[in-house]
This record gives sequence, structure tokens and C-alpha cells, in this order.
Amino acid sequence: MTTEGFVDPAPTPLALLLLGRGADPDSERGVECPGDLPVASDPGLVARARAAKAALGDRVFVLGHHYQRDEVIEFADVTGDSFKLARDAAARPDAEFIVFCGVHFMAESADILTDSSQAVILPDLAAGCSMADMAAIAQVEDAWDVLLDAGIADVTVPITYMNSTAAIKAFTGRHGGAVCTSSNAARALEWAFTMGQKVFFLPDQHLGRNTAVLERGLALGDCVVFDPHKPGGGLTADQLRAATMILWKGHCSVHGRFTATTVAEVRERVPGVTVLVHPECQHEVVLAADLVGSTEFIIRTIDAAPPGSSWAIGTELNLVKRLALAHPDKTIVFLDKSVCFCSTMNRIDLPHLVWTLENLLEGRVVNRIEVDPEVARWARIALDRMLALPGVSAVAKD
Ligand code: 13P
Ligand code: SF4
Repeated sequence: MTTEGFVDPAPTPLALLLLGRGADPDSERGVECPGDLPVASDPGLVARARAAKAALGDRVFVLGHHYQRDEVIEFADVTGDSFKLARDAAARPDAEFIVFCGVHFMAESADILTDSSQAVILPDLAAGCSMADMAAIAQVEDAWDVLLDAGIADVTVPITYMNSTAAIKAFTGRHGGAVCTSSNAARALEWAFTMGQKVFFLPDQHLGRNTAVLERGLALGDCVVFDPHKPGGGLTADQLRAATMILWKGHCSVHGRFTATTVAEVRERVPGVTVLVHPECQHEVVLAADLVGSTEFIIRTIDAAPPGSSWAIGTELNLVKRLALAHPDKTIVFLDKSVCFCSTMNRIDLPHLVWTLENLLEGRVVNRIEVDPEVARWARIALDRMLALPGVSAVAKD
């Protein structure tokens, strides 16, 4: 499609979905949750979850992302970031049910990487990701047409962050690109620049910019931002031709909240503090911080830190709270003064987990995430290209 015919996509009904009522099958946020949930105040919920999980035994494998609530993490067989959990899901071919306590795009990746006889389940289908929602496949296809019109598509390699829909991973696979996560984005860019001259990075502009500038040595001026809500992405063909990194205009609503001011404030508040942030943070925040790295890097850094050291962490609050509790010998504070949970990660709670496990026990597979086979085939190619990067450990293959 040419830029002249560009039409803004209709907004999705976020407010309705947050109330758990609407249905938006085109959105990463998923659709309504069927069935009657146990009431959150039921004092027997923990016992019910324990009983259902014990009765299911090895038939069920529960994965918990680091940003999940404590009440959910308690029942996780394994915890991790999105990359580690995808790998862990694939490493359990004997489990009939993979209950994914995380968000929708993670469950999709687990479905792509596991055997088709295994059911991947997301306890609340409204647990999506606002960043992944910022790139719809139709918008991305239109953007690629803009790159074709500018004469640069054949020298451009698409790289998509794990935090994207399966359809966008498949688009990336079809166009010679790869998936990346926050722990291997630098290696993915290094690979991409051996395959082409430019990178089209989706959907997190901050991870793309931080990696390109801080790890690949590009200048800020080498990066342009493609705004899907503007004709031609809001860029001229000359701007596109001159750019090395074409960054999609997407961001994480949780990590995007931190600012350079919050970093300056925490340095005043906590003398001698080391500021450690996730690369989904804005570039100014990463520049102002002392260390930047993926969720797993943050955990490893705090585990290795000496007693008595002080840390301000810029990532999701559930993880920061758990790190603080696990390390009483260190001072660990949240980077921002105000509360900053990821609202969609928090959709998965104990009532949804109990509802899921009890249904499985009664022979009902609820909230199964199944990626269309053709989409899964191409998405798997993009995932496998990531797994083949030097230093990235592989998952079991079908
Ligand atoms: P990782 O799981 O790769 O650390 O990504 C952070 C995140 O925002 C997950 O939604
Ligand atoms: Fe999406 Fe950000 Fe929440 Fe992760 S923390 S699920 S990127 S909104």
C-alpha cells in the first residue's frame, strides 16, 4: 500500500477489556475469560491450588514470568524471563499442559516451541502486553510497503523483540529476519548487519535505540522512528534511505515511565546507590543509570552484589519487591517513587490459576493458546534464527 492510501487503525476498546468484558480478537490483549472464577477473598484458594496441582502431578508444568505476583510465583515450577521460559516450556515434552503465568505473546511463543499434542494455557486471556499491541500486523505490512517504495526493503533486515505477536514474528521470519530478547539484542543486531545494511526494529524503540547506540556504536542520528499512525511513518524516503536503524514507535508502558529525573531523585534519596535498569527504559534513563541489562542480568547482578550495597532498580515492581525480600543484607529500592506494576502481568492472579488448574483436573482445557500453523511455521523460523545466534542456548526441537 502506498503512503497516500494509509488509514489509521481503529483504536481497541482498552477500557472494556480492562473490566474483563470486551472481546478483541485482533489485539494482543486477547478476549474475555469464560467461566466462573473463585472469589478472590476465598481463604481456601491456596489449599485449592495446591490440591489441584498435586492431583495433576507431572501432567502439568507451570511457568512463571519474573513480573508475576507472589501468589502466582508460589505455584511456578520454574521462573524466568520470556526467553528462559520459552526454552523451559520446550524442555518439557512430557507435560500435557503448560500453564503460562505471563502474557499472551509469551504463551504464543511457548505454543510455537512445544509439541502440538501439548496444550499451552494462559490463565487469563486478557493478560496481553500494551507494547506488543503497538504493532499490528497490518500496520507492519504497510510499513514494509513504505520501505519497498523507498527502495530499501531488500537491504533491510527486520528484527522483532520477543514482545510481539506471533504474526509479527512470522512476518520477520518471512522477510529474512529474527526474533531477539533483551538478553541477546546486541547479538541479533550484529547478525542482522552481516545480512543487510539496515535494521527495521519492532516494536520497542527504546530497546532498539539503546542496543544500537550503546552496544553497536551507532549514533543517535543513525536511528529514525517509524510512526505507524502517520503517512509514510512520518518520514521522507530520503530520511529512510539515510537511516541505519528504523525503529518502530512502540514502548513499554511500565519501563517507559522512568525518567532521568527519577534517576537523579533516587541518587539524592539513597546515598551511594547504584542504578540498574532494563533496556526497555528510555535512552536518557539508560544514560543516567550505572548499569543496564535484561531481567535475568538484573537478578544475577543483585545476587552477586556485596552485603551492604545499595541498589535502585528500574523494572517491574513485583520483581523488585521479591529481590528486596530475598536480599535483606542489601538496600534495594524501586527506581520510581510511585507504584508501577504491569497491569496485564497482574491479570494472572490466584483465582485465575485455581480456575485453570481445577478445570484441567476435571478434563476441561480452558484458555488454550493455539497459533495458526502457517503463522507458527514462519515464526518458528524467526525464533530459530535467534536460537542459532552465537552464545544463545538452544531449545529442544520438534
Ligand atoms: P524479559 O522477560 O525479556 O526480561 O522482558 C521484560 C518484559 O517486559 C517482559 O514483558
Ligand atoms: Fe508488556 Fe511492559 Fe508489561 Fe512487559 S512489562 S508485558 S513489555 S507492558
